[in-house]
Amino acid sequence: MPTDRPFQIVPSVLPADFSQLGDEVAALEKAGVDRIQWDVMDGRFVPNITFGPDLIRSVRDRVAVPFEAHLMIEDPGWVIPQFVDAGCELIIVHAESCIHLHRVLHGVAEAGAKAAVAICPSTPVADVANVLDLVSMVLVMTVNPGFGGQAYIATMEPKIAELRALIVERGLDVDIEVDGGIAPATVQGAAGAGANILVAGSALFRDPEGLGHAVTELRELAQATAG
Ligand code: DX5
Repeated sequence: MPTDRPFQIVPSVLPADFSQLGDEVAALEKAGVDRIQWDVMDGRFVPNITFGPDLIRSVRDRVAVPFEAHLMIEDPGWVIPQFVDAGCELIIVHAESCIHLHRVLHGVAEAGAKAAVAICPSTPVADVANVLDLVSMVLVMTVNPGFGGQAYIATMEPKIAELRALIVERGLDVDIEVDGGIAPATVQGAAGAGANILVAGSALFRDPEGLGHAVTELRELAQATAG
C-alpha cells in the first residue's frame, strides 16, 4: 500500500564520472536530489569493489545534501566510525553481513549517525523485525547487490508491502528505501507497494533530458501513487 511519508529521490553515484566527482555531486544537488548514496563494496560481500571513506570525504564539502553510506561489506561494524567521520549522516548495513546485527546497529547510533538496515532479495522481512526499533529506514534491495544497471525485481513488491504494513502496525517512524532498477517504468510499483525513498543510478545519469528532468520525473511518478 502506498505511504503518506514524503518521497525522496536519492542518486547512487556508481554511474558518475569519478574523474570529476566533485562536479558530479554538485550537479546532483543542483538537480534537486534529497541526499546522495555511496555504494561501498568490498569484493567479498558482493563481487565488486568501489571506494572507501577517504573518497567520500574528498567531496563532502562540495555540497550540503546529506550523505548515506550503503555498506555492502562483510563485518561492517569496525569501519562504521570512519564513514561517519567522512561525513555520512546515515549508515546502511546489510542484515546478511552482520553476525550480531542488533549490536552493529547500536554501534551506528553510538558513532553519531542514523542507522538503517538493508535486505537482499532472498532475505525475508522477518530477519529485520527485531531491529525495526533501532533504525530510521529499511532498504529493500530490488536487485542482487554489486552492480548498477540491473533489471528491477518486481517480485520484491509484496515484500515491500509486508514491511510497510508491519511498520504501520507497530506505529514506527521508519522509511522504506528501494535500490536497483528504479526508473520511470518501475518506480510506481515500488512506491505503490509502500517505498518512499527511491535510489536510482542509471535512470538518473542516462536521462537524455538531464539530471533535473530525471529527478523531477521520478518524484512526480512516485507522488502520483499516493493519490
Ligand atoms: C547495487 C547498487 C545499485 C545502484 C543503483 O549494489 O546499489 O542498485 O545503487 O543502480 P541502478 O539504479 O542503475 O539499478
